Amino acid sequence: MRLVIVSNRLPLTAFEKGRSFELRPSVGGLATGIHSYLEWRSRAEGQASDHLWIGWPGIRDLEKGPRLERKFSRKKSFPVLLPPRTLDGFYSGFCNRTLWPLFHFFPSYTVFEENHWEEYREANRLYAEAVLRKVRPGDVLWVQDYHLLLLPGLIREKLPQLPIGFFLHVPFPSFEIFRLLPGKWRREILEGMLGADLIGFHTHDYTQAFLRCALRILGHEHHNGFLEVDGRTVKADTFPMGIDYEGFRAVASSPKVLAEGAGVKRALGNAKLILSVDRLDYTKGILNRLEGYELFLENNPAWQKKVRLYLVLVPSRTQMSLYQDMKRKIDETIGRINGRFGSHEWTPVLYQYRAKTQAALTSLYTAADVALVTPLRDGMNLVAKEYLACRRDGTGVLVLSEMAGAVYELGEAAIVNPNSREEIAEAIRLGLEMPVEEQVRRNRAMQGRLERYTVVRWADDFLQQLAAVRRRARGPGPKALSAEASRRMLAAFGKAKRRALLLDYDGTLTPYFKDPAEAKPPRRLTRLLKRLASLPRCRIVLISGRPREVLEEWFAKIPIALVAEHGAWLRGPFGPWRRIRPLRDPWKAEIRALLQTYADRLPGAFVEEKEYALVWHFRNSPPEMASLREKELLDELLQRTGNLEVQVLRGNKIVEVRAQGVTKAEGAFAFLGRNPPEFLLAVGDDATDEDLFRALPERAYTLRVGRPPTAARFTLPNHGAVLRLLNSLTR
Ligand code: UDP
Ligand code: G6P
Repeated sequence: MRLVIVSNRLPLTAFEKGRSFELRPSVGGLATGIHSYLEWRSRAEGQASDHLWIGWPGIRDLEKGPRLERKFSRKKSFPVLLPPRTLDGFYSGFCNRTLWPLFHFFPSYTVFEENHWEEYREANRLYAEAVLRKVRPGDVLWVQDYHLLLLPGLIREKLPQLPIGFFLHVPFPSFEIFRLLPGKWRREILEGMLGADLIGFHTHDYTQAFLRCALRILGHEHHNGFLEVDGRTVKADTFPMGIDYEGFRAVASSPKVLAEGAGVKRALGNAKLILSVDRLDYTKGILNRLEGYELFLENNPAWQKKVRLYLVLVPSRTQMSLYQDMKRKIDETIGRINGRFGSHEWTPVLYQYRAKTQAALTSLYTAADVALVTPLRDGMNLVAKEYLACRRDGTGVLVLSEMAGAVYELGEAAIVNPNSREEIAEAIRLGLEMPVEEQVRRNRAMQGRLERYTVVRWADDFLQQLAAVRRRARGPGPKALSAEASRRMLAAFGKAKRRALLLDYDGTLTPYFKDPAEAKPPRRLTRLLKRLASLPRCRIVLISGRPREVLEEWFAKIPIALVAEHGAWLRGPFGPWRRIRPLRDPWKAEIRALLQTYADRLPGAFVEEKEYALVWHFRNSPPEMASLREKELLDELLQRTGNLEVQVLRGNKIVEVRAQGVTKAEGAFAFLGRNPPEFLLAVGDDATDEDLFRALPERAYTLRVGRPPTAARFTLPNHGAVLRLLNSLTR
């Protein structure tokens, strides 16, 4: 299988050098993480595994495209160049000034600019073009990060069968934050992501936030993370990205790296080393960290001259003024701390503003007594994990922000709120004074986890789940009506002397609408019912939960039998309505009042009254609140109806209370008689239809719209499939 990765940035960034290009590793967790996974894959599986990485090479000039293509083809990469205007609106605009701040919970830094959005769409379209040029049958596509949220949907439109995974490397914000995006943008973004088969997040919270937005904004419910979107199955799940644990440990034990680490320590004399490594980004909380360190020095004069903070800052998004301002403030703060506490023999903060190689970084990890990782918000944070991996003897203290995704796996770290200078200052002190046995005990527990769930496990886990979702989606479910079963049914229908079709209406012959009155049958459907009714030796019974007036209005002119209110009322073709048997409704006043109270407490909910039933509808209510109220109502009904002659039923976005003893099965049998026809077909979509499925003889073809569990013999995916099946009976 060939894996095609698409990310905004390629793992190697090109820099012009005379007539040629120099390629340097790109910074950031996405690039380092996936790059090390691909390296492992090539080593472990050799020829059996192939890959291609599509992304931006870091060059603006479109004319350099062909030369870059040649250069990158040797690296199994394909460069995508964007016209300068698109690149600016997309990358500097929508990605870095809208999505990045908003997804990291910085709404005040977020810019909402229609032009940026348009260029974001355009860039995603251009990435889609590149993917469509390169992708081959049999490939698996894995789209990365917030730059390409629309890409899965764009590719899905063109290649409905391609396996597509999507992974978000940054947090997914809460609904309240996400909804700050204009309606059109937020809908298109969610729909774009849902073009994938599997959508991955670093933490359970981000996954839940996404599912909540999909529900609140697009109305997609989920069951254990599975969503049904336009007849496709999509899954959202949590995959905390790991690191190349053994790789880091191997580098950390190389003599050269160890010697370099020892050199750093020696240069510090007997001072302890506190390490901090980040891209220079406002989300990383670098200022707060410096202030926390400053407070630590202030509160603990005994530690002065015995400790040093080594700050590695990697230049990032340097063209943006927000980043330039941040850099200035950091410079000033470092100057202030060094001026305030330093002397000619001691500099409290050492500072480097450039990217380090992995080996150089590893030496620092081996030398650092404490790692300070205190982002204000971070999708995951790999630096924290890398530091732990490099502590071969188990010593060292990780001070970790509770706002980093990594905190869920690294609970034994010294955890701080990054907004609190006091907590940071205190954690530094505790870290420096922590007994070695305790350091080792804490680190071993975390190292065990990092060793098990490495970046390779992470990627494998994601790709295996992607394959599993595809199987589930392709596999039509254990009871799906196969072509063969459908043929057998048609043959039986043709041969049978007497035949009956028992059809539910809402959800079976028509989709659900916001307003139940909108489900009025279109001409196409009434014509189909007429054709069915004119078939020889064939009886059609429409069995609905609707009141008789509605069925009468919609179907009176078609020669079919009608069953209203789930079996309470019956009417032969053109005949008068009759009651199945005397029913009692003295319970109605009490239950009506109860349902009305619940409707008043839930926006969008209403009570429908039928002769022998009361229905509480909540299709148009905010889904989460509705589901809570539904549970409360069911609970209360359970207690209140114990000695009433009623049944309580949970349907599709309704709770129905109806007179006891009426079921769709009873209604149907009133027409089938003692000796039911030899061919029976019953189709329905909710719990009320299950009574009928169970009551019919085994030879009956019982079909449920939707997925198991069901007592029906077969399932069909949606009402469209039901109509196709019924049409085939008329040919
Ligand atoms: N990194 C690096 N050189 C540096 C600083 C960082 O190679 O000088 C790497 C580091 O090893 C880590 C990644 O950059 O793998 C940073 O990832 P992280 O998830 O911590 O943060 P991000 O930059 O993605 O926000
Ligand atoms: C984070 C993002 C990556 C991004 C990296 C560097 O790690 O999740 O997608 O590539 O930062 O940012 P840049 O804007 O330079 O690509």
